[in-house]
Formats: sequence, C-alpha cells, structure tokens
Amino acid sequence: MPRPSDVSGGSLLDRVAVLPVVVLDRVEDAVPVARALVAGGLPAIELTLRTPVALDAIRAIADEVPEILVGAGTVVTPGQAKQALDAGAQFLVSPGSTPALLAAMAETGLRFLPGTATVSEVLAVLESGFTEMKFFPAEASGGAGFLKAIGAPVPAARFCPTGGITVDSAPSYLSLPNVGCVGGSWLTPGDALARGDWSQVEQLAREAAALRRSRGFDDAG
Ligand code: 3PG
Repeated sequence: MPRPSDVSGGSLLDRVAVLPVVVLDRVEDAVPVARALVAGGLPAIELTLRTPVALDAIRAIADEVPEILVGAGTVVTPGQAKQALDAGAQFLVSPGSTPALLAAMAETGLRFLPGTATVSEVLAVLESGFTEMKFFPAEASGGAGFLKAIGAPVPAARFCPTGGITVDSAPSYLSLPNVGCVGGSWLTPGDALARGDWSQVEQLAREAAALRRSRGFDDAG
C-alpha cells in the first residue's frame, strides 16, 4: 500500500482548523474568493469538483494566490485525483472511500482526507495505513456525538467533519481531541458568490479564523 498521507505531505489537520468548502459556478470568482479567505485569516480552500469550472478554478488559485493552500474536494473517482494533481491541487478530499480511490489519492503524493461515515469505514481506512479522514455527512451521521463516542475505542483516527456544520456548531466539534479541523460551505454562501460580495466572505472567514485561534493554532497557518 502507498505511504500514509500524514507521512508524505504532513498533517492537513494540524495545518488548518476551518476548511472552507467552496462550490464555484464562475471561474472568475476563484481568485477573489481565495483572496477574501486569506484576508479574513484562513490559510486553505477546498474547491469541490462538482462544477465544470472547478479544475480551472484550482489552477487559477494555485497560480495567482500562492499564500493559500488549495485543494480539490468531492473527489469521487480515481481519475479525478490525477486531474486535481495536474491542476495544481495541494490536497484532496473525498466524500467516501473505496480501495481504488484511496490508492489513487495516495498515488498523487498529496495530502488527502478520505471520507468515512461509519465505524467500519473508519477501521478500513486505518487498515489501509491512513489516520486522517473526513467525517461526512457529519450532522446527518451522528455529529459531534458520534466522534466523541468513537474516540475511546478507535483513538488512532483523526477527523475533519463536514456536512451541515455552521459557525455555531463548529466549536462542539473543535473541542474534541480527535477532531483536527471542521469543513463547510457556510463561509461562501451561494448568494454572496452570486453578488460577488467578497467582503461578506472575508467577514465570515474572520469569524471562522477566531474559532481557529481559540483552538490554539498560530496565525501563520
Ligand atoms: C462537503 O462536500 O464537505 C459538504 O458538501 C460540505 O457540507 P455543507 O455544504 O453542509 O457545509
């Protein structure tokens, strides 16, 4: 099996506490969104591969906003892992895990968070040699209570929960020892993106960055 992501690329969960999950319809929004997140104090952005412009958006951010860590989310096929690497993604996130998807993500040499939602899926990812994973869909799969309950029997697994998390519910996750970061789309609401309201994105990022500081991360990312 390929190397664990934690070893090949360093820990993603120790690098960020709040991971903005961004769905873009217009590639021209990519750079201003990334700059607004940086201005608000967030060091990373996940572009979901759910829209046709996503790979070009990753490319644009990688080229023009080097101060942010840019990753690809919603990686659901082995081929998308390679496409994201080629576009300049620095990390990968998948909503679920299969052996082929795990192998393809590991093959890129990038950091990655394979998706899990059950204890058996968590054990399967650990068996493959990876300790950092996404917990998705978090709220629908048991929320912070699930992660708290799994902490004692499966202490090796560390999580980035996403799915239904808000600025208000994020602290309940971030207070858990097996949670490194939380992800969500609340930082880039669709109506703000449609209006090009980058100051709202920056303000939401600033609130999220405060969660990050309360977790004890330094400001350098
Ligand atoms: C994801 O891909 O991680 C989720 O769609 C994010 O969930 P949210 O939109 O409920 O924050």
